[in-house]
Amino acid sequence: MLLSIESSCDDSSIAVTEINTKKLIYHKKISQDSEHSKYGGVVPELAARLHTEALPKILEECKVYFDALKAVAVTNEPGLSVTLIEGVTMAKALSIALDIPLIAVNHLKGHIASLFIETNGTFPMITLLVSGGHTMLLRVKDFFNYEVLATTLDDSFGESFDKVAKMLGLGYPGGAKVEEYASKGDFSRFNFTIPLYNSNRHAFSYSGLKNQVRLAIEALGDLTEKDKYDICASFQKTAIAHLLHKTKNILKKERNGIKVFGIVGGASANLSLRENIFALCGEFGLELKLSKLKYCSDNAAMIGRYAIEAYSHNYFTDIRDLQINPKIISKNGY
Ligand code: KG4
Ligand code: ZN
Repeated sequence: MLLSIESSCDDSSIAVTEINTKKLIYHKKISQDSEHSKYGGVVPELAARLHTEALPKILEECKVYFDALKAVAVTNEPGLSVTLIEGVTMAKALSIALDIPLIAVNHLKGHIASLFIETNGTFPMITLLVSGGHTMLLRVKDFFNYEVLATTLDDSFGESFDKVAKMLGLGYPGGAKVEEYASKGDFSRFNFTIPLYNSNRHAFSYSGLKNQVRLAIEALGDLTEKDKYDICASFQKTAIAHLLHKTKNILKKERNGIKVFGIVGGASANLSLRENIFALCGEFGLELKLSKLKYCSDNAAMIGRYAIEAYSHNYFTDIRDLQINPKIISKNGY
């Protein structure tokens, strides 16, 4: 078995996975959403302090598996430096105490692996990663190698939902809340323009849309619940239309015979996005892969799934070389 740790942002999570069968033996996640909600976003120092309470509590429950562990895997990039350190320090301590090797895991590759928890990978594939930190279209060769086809020029898809939620006083994280409000609203009431619509650039952008929402809120003054529903519906429709428009254009040029499309990341839980991508895949004859809803947002099960592959290739990292890389996105290799 191997034990995996995730602490790149505001979720403390540990999993234990059986290497040969890929079976998830144990998985727990303690989310800090309610603690950060009053600040309208993640407060890094608070997140770090909460990890120091939550991670040892979860680890305590994993003691029964310690004798069977062959490696310990941990997210070391990208993420918040003060929270990555928490997981990496715990992983190093376990590595020394149990005399087992360390596996460093890139969080984005972890999200890709979330599609294959307890199953085999289906590569090559095109993958849309939509989270709080990233909006990327990737050509994924295998568990270890991918090529970025497009990324965001500014805010990420999930972040724009969080910011709209903050402007409307809906709390943090905003994604699920905005989706819920959108389901009750009139999406044609506000005519927000789709970002980069007339540009040939293979890129995403969400800061302009966020500003359009801000101006609409300011123009209304006091907001009724109905206003909030309509803003969320109109915003969500435009945010998804932008993803689809760019994804479609990029697929036409970059698909190269690939037959599988995956959506991963916390925002891939959005049902309207799932439906729209499903229709797009139908147009292109692509098979759609989705993670289970519980594995869309940050979790250690996906880190463990990636680590099984790393383990089988002997991709271990020496304890002295294992560093955190808060912003680095390792595109290729392990
Ligand atoms: O992958 P994740 O848990 O953390 C990062 O790696 O960033 O993604 C969290 C992001 C947040 O921005 C959250 O608002 C967004 O995913 N999110 C959603 C939905 N559920 C979560 N965005 C849109 N619709 C949702 N239903
Ligand atoms: Zn994530």
